[in-house]
Amino acid sequence: MSMSIRALGWTALLASFVFAQPPTAPPQPAHNPGTAGKVELGKLLFSEKRLSADGKVSCATCHDPQKGFVDGIEQSKGILQMAVGRNAPSMIAMGHVASFPVPIGHGKELFGRQARERRVRIRGFPPQSKVKAVSLEERCLGPIENPLEMGDSIAGVVHALNEDPEMRRRFDAAFSNGWKGVTRDRMGKALAAFLRSLELPRARFQLFLDGDTTALNDEERDGLAIFEGVGRCNDCHSGPGLSDGKMHRIAMFNSPRAQWRRKVAQTRQTELQRKLSVHQRNAQKLSKVGKPGSAHEARMAALIGRVLTPPQGRVGGYGQDLRTFDIQAHTLPLWDVPRTGPYFRDGSAKRLDVAVAQHITEMRAVAASRRSNRASVAAIPTELKPSWAASPPPAPGELRKDELGKLMAFLRTLSAGD
Ligand code: HEC
Ligand code: HEC
Repeated sequence: MSMSIRALGWTALLASFVFAQPPTAPPQPAHNPGTAGKVELGKLLFSEKRLSADGKVSCATCHDPQKGFVDGIEQSKGILQMAVGRNAPSMIAMGHVASFPVPIGHGKELFGRQARERRVRIRGFPPQSKVKAVSLEERCLGPIENPLEMGDSIAGVVHALNEDPEMRRRFDAAFSNGWKGVTRDRMGKALAAFLRSLELPRARFQLFLDGDTTALNDEERDGLAIFEGVGRCNDCHSGPGLSDGKMHRIAMFNSPRAQWRRKVAQTRQTELQRKLSVHQRNAQKLSKVGKPGSAHEARMAALIGRVLTPPQGRVGGYGQDLRTFDIQAHTLPLWDVPRTGPYFRDGSAKRLDVAVAQHITEMRAVAASRRSNRASVAAIPTELKPSWAASPPPAPGELRKDELGKLMAFLRTLSAGD
């Protein structure tokens, strides 16, 4: 008996020793240091369904903490169980990705209508498109107003949460700048603080980075060399989050995947149109007979209408015409990637090895087209030249099957418990 207790004690000690070394925490912005109170509140808000128009969707619906902060389905589902046409990325390393650039115009509908962010120009973007860097705080508020994700308004959510005295109390306890209850600013800050508090998986690659060179075997170390060398993965998947947070062109406009995305968008548009007419018909029928459900049906119709015909200047929830997103995306963090499939923003690859092979083929095609376009690019006036024209980034090399196998072995060391 006493033996087994002692054995248990040792195990616990060993475990706490291994886990007591926290992976480097993401930098905390001066305007929003991550206090325990804010992190706790952010965690609560992350699972709060009152953030959505139909009261059924929380951040955790698509970024499920139990599943590595993804939902595991190809196309995440938002309010009204409508597919958003995108695959939800994991949140695990988002706090480490310093700034996510968003093309203005296309990006607005994803991230709310904040105009005060610093505008930056990003390498690799067509010169005519303006790009802004959006803080994690703002990015956390975006989904609330995205008509397909949570379909609500920030003002509406702030109002609803303020009706709840317990919620007001929690907000006031988490922030020390007065008794203001729930505010937009505080919601963004608490959610961002929560995401920054997420620890990277205690994966073998972490141990390796901490100095334990035996944490990776020979094959995995070869894989790491390919990641940094011939695969050129590290060009974009760099830094503590394994993402440079930048936008890159990663596919040709006519690649099968880009075409598939457009087809999916078209199907969704048709489906939305069908739902719209059903709700409109229901609203009419119910109001004729004086039934109470009519207002609800009308609200649903209005919501879908907003997706189909977005307000002036906004493209609407992942509209059909998000052309740039067919072929460009910002780099996704890779921590825990073995667990976070399906892959890519369109969820088009179920298996990680298939995703990586396809990714390499597509990037090689992009680089080849840039090379072959160089002559025509030379004719473009300097101020209009695409930023990559002068020196197109080198493409990943073509990997042999055994090299791809080694790369996969390395990627598997990015999850804990392997
Ligand atoms: C309906 C599903 C859904 C819900 C609900 C949702 N998200 Fe997301 N989230 C996504 C998808 C899809 C993306 C990828 C968007 C893209 O890059 O096009 C994403 C991306 C993000 C990103 C990365 C930003 C970026 O630039 O790619 C953050 C941060 C984020 N979500 C936080 C949240 C928070 C916080 C909430 C709750 C307030 C939330 N999400 C609710 C589906 C969802
Ligand atoms: C030119 C920049 C660039 C290079 C080089 C690059 N990637 Fe990526 N990677 C991206 C971008 C951008 C995305 C997001 C694509 C999307 O969302 O559709 C991505 C996504 C991924 C994903 C999907 C992650 C997820 O959660 O869905 C994996 C896996 C991946 N990259 C692995 C690699 C590997 C392995 C290499 C090296 C062979 C590599 N990448 C090289 C830019 C790059």
